[in-house]
Amino acid sequence: MDQMKSCLLHHQNVRMRELLTFILESTLPIKTFFYAREEDFRAQVQLRKYDLIVCDEFSDNEEFKSTFKDTNANNLQTPTLVFSKSGVGLELKNLQFLAKPILDTQLVEVIKNLFFPKKPNVLTTLESFVPVRLELLKRFKTNKVPLFLKLSDQKFIKFLHENSPVDKEIEARIQEKKLHELYLERHSLDEFIMDYKKEIFSQEAWQATSWEEATTKVSLNTELLQTFSMRLGLNETLKEIAEKNILISLQLAKTHPELNKMLHHFQKIERFGYADHCTLTAFVCCYLSSKMGFIDELNLRRLTVAAMFHDSTLTTHQYENKKKYLKQISTKESLSSIDVEAIMSHPVLASELLREWSFSPPKADEIVFHHHEQADGTGFPMFLSAKTIPVLSALFIVAEDFVNEYLDSKGLFEPHHYIKQKTSIYSKEPFASLFEAFKPDLEKLVSN
Ligand SMILES: [Fe+2]
Ligand SMILES: [Fe+2]
Repeated sequence: MDQMKSCLLHHQNVRMRELLTFILESTLPIKTFFYAREEDFRAQVQLRKYDLIVCDEFSDNEEFKSTFKDTNANNLQTPTLVFSKSGVGLELKNLQFLAKPILDTQLVEVIKNLFFPKKPNVLTTLESFVPVRLELLKRFKTNKVPLFLKLSDQKFIKFLHENSPVDKEIEARIQEKKLHELYLERHSLDEFIMDYKKEIFSQEAWQATSWEEATTKVSLNTELLQTFSMRLGLNETLKEIAEKNILISLQLAKTHPELNKMLHHFQKIERFGYADHCTLTAFVCCYLSSKMGFIDELNLRRLTVAAMFHDSTLTTHQYENKKKYLKQISTKESLSSIDVEAIMSHPVLASELLREWSFSPPKADEIVFHHHEQADGTGFPMFLSAKTIPVLSALFIVAEDFVNEYLDSKGLFEPHHYIKQKTSIYSKEPFASLFEAFKPDLEKLVSN
């Protein structure tokens, strides 16, 4: 292909580099090259043989400046895109900063405009099978889409069915054939990369975002969270993680046009209102995760993001009247009103928002999708039975149910009554174990 461009890519994070390589090569006529060591990368920059340079800002600003100043002094003039949190104060020809956290869609757009401005349909010229390098494949625990072997430019045969594990045996079979890549069908590209992409981009976004920035725009009900954490015995570290995750998710939500619109809920102090509902749910989710031993970083993030945005498509009126509408849904009366329809569809709509949002951790959308399912199978949208509800979704359901009762009681929460009422509802797994873990601490919540 004569318009094929070469790109020198540099990023310290190997997984990010692999992912960007895959995204660029599968969506644009680009071949990427990378060198793991910074000095090798700098040497390659001086070689002046690439059409484009894409790199993450160096940790050492001076070194970074000298690399690109030399470059320009030599009149290389290679277009260079740099991921940067703040820009490094350089005004150099052909050097453009892309704000961190990184959005792959933005990167692809910038490169498209740079090299293919008059060819918006450049994608259609790409092949219908997309190569996936073995090192990227190995990152996937399970491969969601079928993968193919290339026999010739025209002939591809299925090598691996969808939902098959990419394990050592498969790796050995691929290496035995002396292959470095398999192929997937272009139409399954998004499905293939979705969760992995979210994992890497949300991780990067979390690292590039400072929670302190969010505190100026957000009024968290710290008194409620403090009291609650003290009574349940939420340890300081976990409390801090939960609070930072809440603030970072709100900060990142500013980058999303739809989520940005609902941030006003968190900018006003409204006792027991929308913000308290979300933040307390996030806290209870983190607390229950620690009780169950699910405290890896990613789980805490996905639960917090789910807690912050699970009701994000509801209007203030719909949120404030949700109890009435939920009752109408359970008794199947007046199901045709706009507000009832909005309540019935909000788990699906809010989960779609998170599914499309690169900064949302993987599976946060799944938790949101199921947050109105019920342990007795009477929930929606899927009417799932207890055993078919994924465990993190079940954890979220238990947490939110408790938060609703706790906030509705307006300070007069009666744990014994609550435990009695819920024990039979939560009799099946995974709810039974979750509630069992919760019970002893619930008893401490007796109102003074
Ligand atoms: Fe909710
Ligand atoms: Fe909801």
